[in-house]
Amino acid sequence: MLNALKPQPADKILQLIGQFRDDPRPVKIDLGVGVYKDATGLTPVMRAVKAAEHRLWENQLSKSYTALAGEPEFNQAMGAMILGPAMDTGRVASIATPGGTCAIRQAFELIRMATPDATVWVSDPTWPNHNSILSYLGMKQRSYRYFDAETRGVDFAAMLSDLAAVKAGDVVLLHGCCHNPTGANLTLPEWAAVAALLEKTGAIPLIDLAYQGFGDGLDEDAAATRLIAQRLPEVLIAASCSKNFGIYRERTGILIALSAPALRDVTQGNLAFLNRQNYSFPPDHGARVVTTILNDPALRSDWQAELEAIRLNMLTLRADLARELRDLAGSDRFGFIAQHRGMFSRLGATAEQVERLRAEHGIYMVSDSRMNIAGLNSATVPILARAILAVGI
Ligand code: LMR
Repeated sequence: MLNALKPQPADKILQLIGQFRDDPRPVKIDLGVGVYKDATGLTPVMRAVKAAEHRLWENQLSKSYTALAGEPEFNQAMGAMILGPAMDTGRVASIATPGGTCAIRQAFELIRMATPDATVWVSDPTWPNHNSILSYLGMKQRSYRYFDAETRGVDFAAMLSDLAAVKAGDVVLLHGCCHNPTGANLTLPEWAAVAALLEKTGAIPLIDLAYQGFGDGLDEDAAATRLIAQRLPEVLIAASCSKNFGIYRERTGILIALSAPALRDVTQGNLAFLNRQNYSFPPDHGARVVTTILNDPALRSDWQAELEAIRLNMLTLRADLARELRDLAGSDRFGFIAQHRGMFSRLGATAEQVERLRAEHGIYMVSDSRMNIAGLNSATVPILARAILAVGI
């Protein structure tokens, strides 16, 4: 049987982890996988996470199975954090999932169960695993233009023009904030225009919210999701706790489905069914840590303070890199780095230039020239700036 298997291509993002680790050069910079790192290169366990884990260790009496859809307290606390005043419990069905990736996967499966012929529209470019999971599930996908290679901002006119071809019942995958891989994001008025277009066409938005709190702030980063939740009858939201709680390996995420109140119970039943088919109960530890933090005012405020420091650190690195490049290049053509939000910026370099950054300068980024800003520190910003110009970007 197993001799029928074909080799799988390496994941373009994850393979960088091994390549970087095996590079013997003393000076090297890892701007690959989307993991936050402090100035010393550590991805720290956040203070509130440690405190919550300590509490759990002391108080948890059982590791027996918990709820199939996830602990209701987790689903409730996450729903409130994401939806804020747009939280309408009569419309909300949700499941805890193993990370944001599984929230996406479960969303795709729910779409396929409900409407096997639906096309899922993804931005060009998008997180490559979106395309990969859709292909794996045999679902139809199309892309809409998103990134303007010239300005490194959003080509909003092109995006709207492509989305005008979306049909009723199709699904449009949107990055709620901190677009991955480009770092270029819509303004709120642009989001309102997208919501109006979806309303008109009868398409369903699927919002990938993996970086809430990494862009403009916890509430600000949820503003587009809330706007869409209030305007459209059906909305899917796949959210991750990996980044904003720094619990990557705990695999903690949630899929929320908003519907008309009359459809809520059947939607909830189908979500729980999907959990049972795919992995039965979702992982509990990370979700319980998140719930402990969100429901305890002192832990929550400490977590928010640390998250805010992380966000501001990334903004400072963006500003520093843009300034360094302006000084060296004598032009403002890299100003977009300071405008982008979240962990990533797409530099707009060719694959060959990216390869030269690696080979000649020990700088690792994804071949489409996505760089993880959090991989920098004050010492490596000037090194990167000089290397960018040296390879002719
Ligand atoms: C990334 O885009 O680097 C992260 O979301 C990690 C991943 O799983 O790809």
